[in-house]
Amino acid sequence: MTTPSAAVCPKRWLVQVCHHRSCDRGGSAAVLAAFREHQSPTILVAESDCMGQCSAGPTVKVMPGNTWYCQVTAEDVPRIVEQHLHGGELVRDRLHPRFHPPDPSAER
Ligand code: FES
Repeated sequence: MTTPSAAVCPKRWLVQVCHHRSCDRGGSAAVLAAFREHQSPTILVAESDCMGQCSAGPTVKVMPGNTWYCQVTAEDVPRIVEQHLHGGELVRDRLHPRFHPPDPSAER
């Protein structure tokens, strides 16, 4: 099994931040504001309706790559921007396990 990677850095990223009820209660407004501080011609930030992952919110989805992050806080945002969007490496401790199951070989 290969480990998840965002190795391909596209010309533009789309970061979708759920701003619906459960995520909003969990602090998604602060997450959205934090991502908007990093908005640029190469990083587009958009709020979204419910993405169906309410119990694990705030939910953030990054395209291309179809990367799902869960329980994201505003404090996580600089790391996601630097490590994933600029560095091409996923932020593993915030990956949503439903879409990115842990790689057992990575724990050896
Ligand atoms: S309210 Fe955010 S995923 Fe459902």
